[in-house]
Amino acid sequence: MKVGVLGSGIVATTLASGFLKYGHEVTLGSRTPEKLKDWAAANPKGKTGTFATAAEFGEVLVLAVKGPAAWEALRRAGEANLAGKVVIDTCNPIADAPPTNGVLQFFTSVNESLMEQLQRQFPDARLVKAFNSVGAPFMVDPQFEGGKPTMFICGSEEAAKKTVTGILDQFGWETADMGGAESARAIEPLCMLWCLPGFLRNEWTHAFKLLKT
Ligand SMILES: NC(=O)c1ccc[n+]([C@@H]2O[C@H](COP(=O)([O-])OP(=O)(O)OC[C@H]3O[C@@H](n4cnc5c(N)ncnc54)[C@H](OP(=O)(O)O)[C@@H]3O)[C@@H](O)[C@H]2O)c1
Repeated sequence: MKVGVLGSGIVATTLASGFLKYGHEVTLGSRTPEKLKDWAAANPKGKTGTFATAAEFGEVLVLAVKGPAAWEALRRAGEANLAGKVVIDTCNPIADAPPTNGVLQFFTSVNESLMEQLQRQFPDARLVKAFNSVGAPFMVDPQFEGGKPTMFICGSEEAAKKTVTGILDQFGWETADMGGAESARAIEPLCMLWCLPGFLRNEWTHAFKLLKT
C-alpha cells in the first residue's frame, strides 16, 4: 500500500518505519519537512514532504499529531486528499494543562471524542481510531511475555476497519473492534489509563490485553 503519515513526532516516525519494514511505500509529512531529515537518512526508501504531499501520496493515511492540532493538520492535508481514504487516527485529546495526580486532562468530554469531532469536520475521510493507547516503542512488533497485546479500534465504516485490522495483523497485534466512531469516547481515555503507571511509578512498558473465555 501507499501510506501517507502526517506528523514528525515519535508516533509518526515509528509507524512510518514500520510500514516500510512491512513493504509498504511511505511518505512522511510535516509543516516543516526539514524536521524529517534524520528519519529520511535512516529510512532511505521513505519519502518526506508536507502534510498535503503525504496525504496526496497515501491510499491509507495516518494522523499522528498533537491532539489540539489534529483539525489543523487535516485542514493542511487538504479535504480532497482525504476523500474516500482510510485515516488511522492515533491522536489523543490531551489538554495543555498538567496531569492531576498522574491523570491526563482532556479538552473533550465523556460524551464527545476527538475522533467524532474530526469525522464530522471531514465527513469524506474514513477515520479509524487505533494506536492511541500504547507507547510508541510497542506499536510495531510488540513483544510481551503474556502474548499478543490487544489494539482497541473503532470507526464508522466496516471496510476501513478491515484495512486497519490487516495492518495490525502485520504489526503483531490482535484487534478488538469496539464499534462506531462514538466508541472513541471509550478508547481515547485508555491513554489516560496507559499513562498512569508511567506518571505514578515511571513504568512505561505495558500494553492492554482483552481476555475472553
Ligand atoms: N508518544 C506516544 O508514545 C503516543 C502514544 C499513543 C498515542 N499518542 C498520540 O499520538 C499523537 C502524536 O504523538 P507524538 O508524541 O508522536 O507527537 P506530538 O508531539 O504529540 O505531536 C507532534 C506533531 O504535532 C504537529 N503539530 C503541533 N502543532 C501543530 C499545529 N498547530 N498545526 C499542525 N500540526 C501541529 C507537529 O507538526 P509539525 O511536524 O508540522 O511540527 C508534529 O507533527 C498525539 O496525539 C499523542 O497523544 C502518542
